[in-house]
Amino acid sequence: MTESQQDPVSESQIAVHWREEEYIYPPESFVQQANAADPAIFDRFDEKNFPDCFVEYAEMLSWDKKWDTVLDASNPPFWKWFTGGRLNASYNCVDRHLADKANKAALIWVPEPESAEPVAITYRDLYHRVNEFAALLRDFAGLKAGDRVTLHMPMVAELPVVMLACARLGVVHSEVFGGFSGNACGTRIADSGSRVLITMDGYYRSGTLVDHKVKADEALAEAAKQGQEVDKVLVWRRHAGEYASQTPMVTGRDFFVDEVIAQYRGQIVDPVPLPSEAPLFLMYTSGTTGRPKGAQHSTGGYLSYVTGTSRYYQDIHPEDTYWCMADIGWITGHSYIVYGPLSLGTTTVIYEGTPNYPDAGRPWRIAERLGVNIFHTSPTAIRMLRKVGPDEPAKYDYHFKHMTTVGEPIEPEVWRWYHKTVGKGEAVIVDTWWQTETGGFLGSSLPALKPMKPGSCGPAVIGIFPAIYDETGEEVPDGKAGNICIRNPWPGIMQTIWGQPERFISVYYEKYNKDPDSKDWHDWPYFAGDGAVRAPDGYYRILGRVDDVINVAGHRLGTKEIESAALTVPEVAEAAAVPVIDDIRGRAVEVYVSLKPGYEANQEMVDKVTRSVEVEIGKIARPKNVWIVQDMPKTRSGKIMRRVIAAVSNFTDTGDVTTLANPEIVDQIRHEVQSAKVARGDVPRELTETERAEIQSFGKEE
Ligand code: PRX
Repeated sequence: MTESQQDPVSESQIAVHWREEEYIYPPESFVQQANAADPAIFDRFDEKNFPDCFVEYAEMLSWDKKWDTVLDASNPPFWKWFTGGRLNASYNCVDRHLADKANKAALIWVPEPESAEPVAITYRDLYHRVNEFAALLRDFAGLKAGDRVTLHMPMVAELPVVMLACARLGVVHSEVFGGFSGNACGTRIADSGSRVLITMDGYYRSGTLVDHKVKADEALAEAAKQGQEVDKVLVWRRHAGEYASQTPMVTGRDFFVDEVIAQYRGQIVDPVPLPSEAPLFLMYTSGTTGRPKGAQHSTGGYLSYVTGTSRYYQDIHPEDTYWCMADIGWITGHSYIVYGPLSLGTTTVIYEGTPNYPDAGRPWRIAERLGVNIFHTSPTAIRMLRKVGPDEPAKYDYHFKHMTTVGEPIEPEVWRWYHKTVGKGEAVIVDTWWQTETGGFLGSSLPALKPMKPGSCGPAVIGIFPAIYDETGEEVPDGKAGNICIRNPWPGIMQTIWGQPERFISVYYEKYNKDPDSKDWHDWPYFAGDGAVRAPDGYYRILGRVDDVINVAGHRLGTKEIESAALTVPEVAEAAAVPVIDDIRGRAVEVYVSLKPGYEANQEMVDKVTRSVEVEIGKIARPKNVWIVQDMPKTRSGKIMRRVIAAVSNFTDTGDVTTLANPEIVDQIRHEVQSAKVARGDVPRELTETERAEIQSFGKEE
């Protein structure tokens, strides 16, 4: 069974009802200054003007050579945008601002320790840093256009420097979220075929200087196991001249950047004019199978898309101070901390640490100190800050004109706190729905032109034409849930999955393509993997993943990856990972395991499984609970019924289990798990109808 195929019991058959929220209109002060305030924009981006409408985005960039063709759709679904054109992303994000913004801050980096001052890096300084590091990459590391390099860097200003230095040469960067484990990084090094790893010795997180270099050694061991040797590890030091890690540097392989860079001081490297379709970076994400997917993003199409959406949807002006609190290790950070904002010549803030360190007032102190006027974060961060510091925002004198939420559905109640308390009722909010694969926004209100509706991401963004299909490919009526697809290509869509073009087709296009030989893009809707409902006003509510992916704090975790991690514990016979509703993180992961004969269920075993998930993936995937059960509920063909387990964990109805091979086990598991949860005071609140539908259909391909 391929990843895109699902059981016929579909989301579309689950009627979903919710109370329609009232519209909230943007403040007049926002509308007055907005980049997109003329409704004529909707006509310019109307379907009749597709694909030429996207020229408006491409023209926001500086091209070395203009394109011949806007969209080359001759080899579906491998779309090529602005072909014949040549450009350089580093030039667009740095050099072109030197003429009028050389001494303006490009980046303001805020270290986590509050005793340390923020560091402002001007466009001119960024230019020199990027050039020097590009010289090092070319002459010391021997990298050239088309080579891949893996980055495993935390939230420091050096990370965008490295990305832009790669982009200057056409080297394809693949940044792995700093919180991922060494093993996870190693798998991505091997998959991308990187010969060079760029990392840092340590970084501050919740008050501790974390040893990060140790993960480089683990990563290299794992990559070698998978057949990929790494020749050089470039190690930035959090405090130049002092080494924050316990692991020794390996002679001839590991190099401190602050030492090597000395010989490249003052060097200038001409930006390479790259074909529009040259890959800019890989961003790995999770899917149904264990092997991560390297979403490959292009130079011309991607940069056009993130620049255009940053201008219109983030309302970024060069004079703004823009802060996206996401991590650059995720797509949000690539598109909306680094490439979009810098392409527009604004000031983008990078914060090293956790939002509530040393207390829940920290984000608002940063906003006050730096004069942040555009703020961007996730529902998880908002829920957490609301819980731990509901009155903090009022204590600080900052003023946001614009706020974003991204990555997960936001509850209307949480949205209202964000609006009233964080935004002080002065800011417009955009709820942006999109994915690693899509490069930029798919669903959001255009802030000056469409009202906000709490809990809905809004209509499709301009130039995006969605449809919600049932399992048979019929469009579902408004108010009914189905699988949301995008009918047309757009410049930000990934080009392919690195090294897995068949998987690119099977995961995203096979499901709703009726003729694999068709050369007409209309026959290739993009299957996003999300359930959604459209209201009669055209606003979408995203219900969550329809595949085996759990969205924890806005981060996608594949159940198969977690299960494979649990199965590395020799005593474990079977493993199943399921989501539980979590009031802060949206969803958390619970893992059920059964042991091989002769082994005993005990705390040590629970710890082993937990550790295995941390080692294989990272702390982010750490299970909330590990339950050791005698057996898993299974179908007669031996498949684990994840939806039954998920129902137990969430205290919802397990449905009819009489056709299982071992129905009696369900009561036993329910008794064990639920009584333990009751004893720990860990009983979830009553689920909403949509949450219940999600849990009861979880893992439904089995
Ligand atoms: O399920 C959707 C959810 O996050 C998934 C994409 O995750 P990722 O690739 O990690 O990218 C996250 C940042 C863009 C989607 O398939 N999602 C994303 N944004 C929203 C959302 N769910 C509801 N509302 C959103 N605004």
